[in-house]
Amino acid sequence: MEYQSILNSIEKEASYKESSGNVASYIPELAKIDPNKFGMHLYCINSGHYGFGDQQERFSIQSISKVFSLTLAMSLLNDDELFKRVDVEPSGDPFNSLVQLEYENGIPRNPLINAGALVIADILISTLDNPEEKFLNLIRTISDNSEININPKVFQSEKKFSHRNAALLNLMKSFGNIKNPIEAVLDLYTFQCAIEMSCKELATAFMIYANSGKTLFDDTQMISERKVKRINAIMQTCGFYDEAGEFSFRVGLPGKSGVGGGIAAIHPGQYAVTTWSPRLNPKGNSELGMFALERLTTLTGFSIF
Ligand code: DON
Repeated sequence: MEYQSILNSIEKEASYKESSGNVASYIPELAKIDPNKFGMHLYCINSGHYGFGDQQERFSIQSISKVFSLTLAMSLLNDDELFKRVDVEPSGDPFNSLVQLEYENGIPRNPLINAGALVIADILISTLDNPEEKFLNLIRTISDNSEININPKVFQSEKKFSHRNAALLNLMKSFGNIKNPIEAVLDLYTFQCAIEMSCKELATAFMIYANSGKTLFDDTQMISERKVKRINAIMQTCGFYDEAGEFSFRVGLPGKSGVGGGIAAIHPGQYAVTTWSPRLNPKGNSELGMFALERLTTLTGFSIF
């Protein structure tokens, strides 16, 4: 497959496109990002790295980190135990919605909405000493880069405006589904969202989901093949919140978005692919990123469907 020439066409097509989306501003530090940044990286199992634009510049991974926290939790607990605390159904609601939690007794619909990721953070705190360090270690290992870190300004900025996540935590704690102090869970969750990675680093990390749970650079089995199948199924059905159907419909790959403007997606057995463009559509997903991935599966002529 001529991936580099396909990516070059996507870059060209995108340059003609008017993007009306806005940079996330509810986390003030994210509002400072240049909205016109745009990069894409594809890491193919058989033929290596391809990309363009701002693919090597780090950005805030935000909700993409929820896939890594789910991976860490699934590597520590058996699925029966874990999925008693969080379900695996699409929510059809915005990422930070509270509404289903009350009538569903504090059990979040899935681990990729905020409520679910907060439960996963609570589980990690109960299971690990120093979960922040373990979290960073996982990402550094799978992206083969020991320099990956958080942006402390983004962390502080989000902490000041975390009222909604605190509300989700309080509601879930009232149902007994949060075991640790609210502040500790909020800290871990905000920490994971403030991690910065480039498209290239993220594609390298996401290769474990395309490569049956193994890193490509040294063939380490990070998580079992069966669990990767389940993580990919959750990404496919829940990775884009109330736009998960739209992403499946247009792109046809399991993927995860973040309000920093990143998207990571995989084609099992083929490649991991990432995009970064900070202009978001009204549902909080990168407008140009979704366009670029739709063009990728169209121009290559294959998706998982
Ligand atoms: O909790 C929040 O609001 C952010 N730290 C993450 C939200 C996010 O990335 C939603 N994704 N598109």
